[in-house]
Amino acid sequence: MDAAASRPAVVIDNGTGYTKMGFAGNVEPCFIVPTVVAVNESFSNPSRSSGKSNWLAQHSAGVMADLDFFIGEEALARSRSSNTYNLSYPIRHGQVENWDAMERFWQQCIFNYLRCDPEDHYFLLTESPLTAPESREYTGEIMFETFNIPGLYIAVQPVLALAAGYTTSKCEMTGVVVDVGDGATHVVPVADGYVIGSSIKSIPICGKDVTLFVQQLMRERGEHVPAEDCFEVARKVKEMYCYTCSDIVKEYNKHDREPSKYIKQWKGTKPKTGAPYSCDVGYERFLGPEIFFNPEIYSSDFTTPLPAVIDKCIQSAPIDTRRALYKNIVLSGGSTMFKDFHRRLQRDLKKIVDARVIASDARLGGEVKAQPVEVNVVSHPIQRFAVWFGGSVLASTPEFYAACHTKAEYEEYGASICRTNPVFKGMY
Ligand SMILES: Nc1ncnc2c1ncn2[C@@H]1O[C@H](COP(=O)(O)OP(=O)(O)OP(=O)(O)O)[C@@H](O)[C@H]1O
Ligand SMILES: [Mg+2]
Repeated sequence: MDAAASRPAVVIDNGTGYTKMGFAGNVEPCFIVPTVVAVNESFSNPSRSSGKSNWLAQHSAGVMADLDFFIGEEALARSRSSNTYNLSYPIRHGQVENWDAMERFWQQCIFNYLRCDPEDHYFLLTESPLTAPESREYTGEIMFETFNIPGLYIAVQPVLALAAGYTTSKCEMTGVVVDVGDGATHVVPVADGYVIGSSIKSIPICGKDVTLFVQQLMRERGEHVPAEDCFEVARKVKEMYCYTCSDIVKEYNKHDREPSKYIKQWKGTKPKTGAPYSCDVGYERFLGPEIFFNPEIYSSDFTTPLPAVIDKCIQSAPIDTRRALYKNIVLSGGSTMFKDFHRRLQRDLKKIVDARVIASDARLGGEVKAQPVEVNVVSHPIQRFAVWFGGSVLASTPEFYAACHTKAEYEEYGASICRTNPVFKGMY
């Protein structure tokens, strides 16, 4: 075993909204930071007023631009306080779109946050289930060439969420992962650790949409939130006060009967003047998460409720896996954290499944009865970073080091080795 393999692996789960990073073997990531980079644009676009090409000035501007950038909360703070910094979000809808920004982002994660020497640690990174093989090659190139890491494994996010193994004391590697993050929602069936690729469903409603909807509802009601702050306020309101209800009409009535019990107050300070302000938080508390169950209240383009999407996903999987899939539906991602989200999902999905059983009983004419189907939606406090935690568990096994692509393999065969990763069999 080489020296690097005796140190804990670095585990980074890059999400559209947040990056979770830390070391294998830990229960929680060391840092959760917004996946955003602020670059000083005055260096990137040096003034060409002299008319002459001043290569030295341009060269040093390039060097400065390489050094003068921030990530995460620091990046957001810089862009708020000065307009020389431009924000770029390297990941959109779960896919890396700006590789230059992504590389800068990783650089700061490694050197400024985790403060480790990348040459001394194996790395486990994650990708969305729909990532193209080319994207894995770029990741490999950056990791091996720029950071000179000794070994790399790129894991599929929902498989890690299942590997988190919190459903039973033993790791259950068959199930459906419902990963609802900030910029992507995927429903992914996994059988014995292998993703059933043809049955993956992804829907265009995710955490960011809940924030946008909350923002829209507050604006329509005329709440006075400063314009430059309204998205951030809506996000915090969502994270602190939103919950999943069992029935919208009943919930409206409850709010109307006892407003003092349900209406919350948001208090903030105006970013420009520092003056305090406050606003009410009302129906958006339950209407926000409702867009997963009644999407038509938010968008006319996509109207299939999440429980129906999960049902379609399982129905399209091989018939001999379906019962096991209904039995182990695992939640992952920050946007599954709404109170009672799992209960509503389980109830609505059970309704669909029971209706199908009744219909098939009717078809069979009452002589033979179909077996009832067990529907189980599993919820756990760790689901906010289930993907990262699964990575932390996997990367602390000896099988992880055996499954990694090594620097030597990269040098011999090139980036194409990163196109595929073996699934860990040892774990299961
Ligand atoms: N307690 C909470 N209740 C509701 N939503 C939350 C809560 N905490 C975080 N979120 C939301 O979860 C989202 C972030 O989740 P997560 O970190 O899983 O996403 P991501 O990995 O960045 O994105 P993706 O997986 O889509 O690429 C954000 O929209 C955030 O506002
Ligand atoms: Mg994610």
